[in-house]
Amino acid sequence: MKSCCINPSILSADFVNLEAELQRISTADAVHVDVMDNHFVPNLTLGLPVVQRIQAVSPIPLDAHLMIADADRWAPGFADAGLASVTFHAEASIAPVKLARELRQRGAKAGMALRPATPVEPYLDMLPELDMLLIMTVEPGFGGQAFLDLTLPKIRRAKAAIDGSGVGVAIQVDGGITEETILRAAEAGATVFVAGSAVYGADDPAAAITRLREEGNRMLRSATGIN
Ligand code: DX5
Ligand code: ZN
Repeated sequence: MKSCCINPSILSADFVNLEAELQRISTADAVHVDVMDNHFVPNLTLGLPVVQRIQAVSPIPLDAHLMIADADRWAPGFADAGLASVTFHAEASIAPVKLARELRQRGAKAGMALRPATPVEPYLDMLPELDMLLIMTVEPGFGGQAFLDLTLPKIRRAKAAIDGSGVGVAIQVDGGITEETILRAAEAGATVFVAGSAVYGADDPAAAITRLREEGNRMLRSATGIN
């Protein structure tokens, strides 16, 4: 059985001590980097030059989540920076198929994100162009929000479509993931979990990562009937 991935979000980290904050999550699968432009979402974080420095010092791969307008123009530059994975928002792309292909050509895994109210159905035919589908479980923009259960049916529908077509697309969830909500998201079909406050808000981030991974894997095992 494939085990789950825990990708802590540095949105909840201390931005003045990023290198040390990255070391605290070195047992995670990847570091989730939230890029916000104050247009696509009402918040501003960091841009490509800072992401390049994070990439240079991080002990684990980077998983960039671009909450930026005009993704077609700006996302390829993040792939050029050597990031393992680059995720753009479907709502911010005019030509998502072209963009996903461009990301892959530049050596990154291609991810596409959907806001909570964006349906997955219009995008099912382009699943083979993607390595990851990010189903937002809060409205993007801020850490520390409550998990939206209304996204669970969409995760289930996406999982059924992926299983039915045999494409190898991972479902990532982002927003409000805790040791409790991870169970519902995993049961619905997610295998990659972003957690900001649940990791950096804990006294021991490494222990929080271990617990989230155990809970996620426990649910994945029971969902696949393997013990
Ligand atoms: C929200 C970001 C998330 C956020 C998650 O727009 O995309 O990655 O940091 O934070 P928590 O886990 O606190 O909801
Ligand atoms: Zn994110």
